[in-house]
Amino acid sequence: MKALLTGGAGYIGSHTAVAMLEAGHEVAVIDNYYNSSAEAIRRVEKITGKNINMYEADVADKDKLRDILKTEMPDCIIHFAGLKAVGESVEKPVEYYRNNIDTTLALLEVMKELGLTNIVFSSSATVYGEDNVPPFTEDMPKGRCTNPYGWTKWMQEQILTDAQLASASAAAASGTDGDGAAELSVVLLRYFNPVGAHESGMIGEDPKGIPNNLMPYISQLAVGRRDHLTVFGDDYDTPDGTCRRDYIHVMDLAEGHVKAAEYCAAHKGTEVINLGTGEPYSVLDMVKAFGEACGSPVRYEIGPRRAGDVQDSWADADKAKRLLGWEASRGIREICRDAWKWQSGNPEGYGE
Ligand code: NAD
Ligand code: UD1
Repeated sequence: MKALLTGGAGYIGSHTAVAMLEAGHEVAVIDNYYNSSAEAIRRVEKITGKNINMYEADVADKDKLRDILKTEMPDCIIHFAGLKAVGESVEKPVEYYRNNIDTTLALLEVMKELGLTNIVFSSSATVYGEDNVPPFTEDMPKGRCTNPYGWTKWMQEQILTDAQLASASAAAASGTDGDGAAELSVVLLRYFNPVGAHESGMIGEDPKGIPNNLMPYISQLAVGRRDHLTVFGDDYDTPDGTCRRDYIHVMDLAEGHVKAAEYCAAHKGTEVINLGTGEPYSVLDMVKAFGEACGSPVRYEIGPRRAGDVQDSWADADKAKRLLGWEASRGIREICRDAWKWQSGNPEGYGE
């Protein structure tokens, strides 16, 4: 199939591009490089020995988007493009709602014009909110989000679900009058905590500024770009007192997208699917595993809890296995090994 990846130069998009190309699919990318670099795409081409049709454009620019989609006419769109920094979304909510919602609306409008029907969306476990108890299953009611970023994911899920429902009704009606309306296929992927890097160490996570997330922070600490790690709270009701998360290797996640895109192109309707491992690890588990991977213990101190953190978050990963025939195969040892390979080989990231 031909897949079009919005935001494909970013962290998860670039790893998914590798997995799609290696599975024999064609890949085109639209990215405005707001939070990424063209170097990531060059490296994906180097890893795979295959070409990517790269378009530098804002997905919310409907005229450009129409031109690109008309040229590519992809079998499936994987929609990664979006702003994702939780703290920044609290300071700049309007920018977050504008960018994240507009990109999705523009895609839906242009897809309808061109008769394109298949879309996979990057959602987040954050939509389970604070009140659900893990392991999270896809049929749990969505919760209240703790920040505007989370709400944009919540809302985009709703927009895509409503658009799919309307398309199904229109398609059913056109069965009688024959105007050929096409039913959408929507797959909403809820990621848990994507971490690690491609096994080659050539591509990886390259956050701008001081990382907010645990694993990129530890990686930068290990190459001397940060001074020490603060563990946000050790008084939670967990075995070692620190929060537990479902850390998933980004290449497992990428391979999940290959299966999800194939599923999306072959079905109609809306499916919500968790992409996680189903295994929780604590902050201190990750600190220890990274120290073992890089050969020296990670320096840390215990600090206060971070506002907005939930104690526990992990997936029930059964639906992905059942529907997509996919499950994560890499553990925290591989995660830390590959994150270290990327960061030690590229201490300043892509450096652009
Ligand atoms: P990323 O920032 O590395 O990638 C997003 C890409 O989208 C970037 O390359 C950016 O330049 C591009 N982009 C943003 N707005 C755009 C626009 N209007 N037009 C064109 N390109 C645009 O982030 P990522 O970690 O790869 O995340 C990908 C998706 O997955 C995002 O939607 C994110 O919210 C979601 N997600 C990420 C995580 C995570 O932990 N990384 C967890 C859950 C969900
Ligand atoms: C965060 C976001 C979530 C988003 C996800 C993307 C918040 C509240 N949540 O989730 O919405 O979908 O990133 O991956 O920001 N930690 C430390 N010290 C640090 C950094 C983190 O102790 O310097 C701890 C955190 O308290 C948490 C764990 O490490 O317990 C993981 O944190 P992080 O990587 O930021 O991910 P989440 O909080 O799960």
